[in-house]
Amino acid sequence: MSAQSPASGKGVTILDLREMKARGERIAVLTAYDWLFARLVDTSGIDIILVGDSLGQVVLGLDSTVGVTLNDMIHHARAVCRGVSRSMVVVDLPFLTYQLSTEEAVRNAGRVLQESGATAVKLEGGSTRIAGTVERMVEAGIPVMGHLGFTPQSVHTLGGNRVQGRDDESRQRLRDEARRLQDAGAFSIVLELIPGDLAADLSADLRIPTIGIGAGPHCDGQVLVLPDMLGLNREFNPRFLRRFAELGDQAEAALREYVSAVKDGSYPTAEHTFS
Ligand code: KIV
Repeated sequence: MSAQSPASGKGVTILDLREMKARGERIAVLTAYDWLFARLVDTSGIDIILVGDSLGQVVLGLDSTVGVTLNDMIHHARAVCRGVSRSMVVVDLPFLTYQLSTEEAVRNAGRVLQESGATAVKLEGGSTRIAGTVERMVEAGIPVMGHLGFTPQSVHTLGGNRVQGRDDESRQRLRDEARRLQDAGAFSIVLELIPGDLAADLSADLRIPTIGIGAGPHCDGQVLVLPDMLGLNREFNPRFLRRFAELGDQAEAALREYVSAVKDGSYPTAEHTFS
């Protein structure tokens, strides 16, 4: 939990995040996809709520993030924003909504902010083309978070969920991409599935905060997917994940108990009945 209130006295801002990095305060980030959980996450002191396109797997039951649409993201981001008063809300731009042309990317990112009420968007990759798009978005007043390392929208070209940056060439590429995103005006970068020493180097090198997932303990912050860390997504057990609860087991037990109570007539009773 963030120990200090955001400087603005209202919600967490980009300036707050920069100051947190400067004073060594780690940034706590979680995903959320609906109003109910967003309220809980917001009041727990989380600095950034990411409406991730992991929505595809953990909410919509898809195999990857590739099938998630811009309208899906806006629909869920609106619900999240209704439940949030303190955390910064960042929304993923889904597959093919920012890669085809800069103009379309800026328009789509603007739609996300206008229609949901979120503060910023996140996009994947660090090529010169993507950095150019980031620059145009920032110029238009749209804060952008980058995402490097394993980039889930490229799962098919990367050949699955693999750790990136294991050899010299890809390490150098990640360093170049991170610098490029920073120079383009990104306010933060998610580093997913990369070796801990590389994440530490990048975090030390960059002025902007890095947010790790599967990137070791030396990033400026950490993000997890909410259903994974609450134990609601029980089949997903990567090495980097710590489950902070086993809500899946608890929910299943409660549901079985409810079925039994209805079937054996022990619920509802007179105490649940209006006279
Ligand atoms: O979609 C998502 O939830 C993400 C996080 C894994 C960083 O991008």
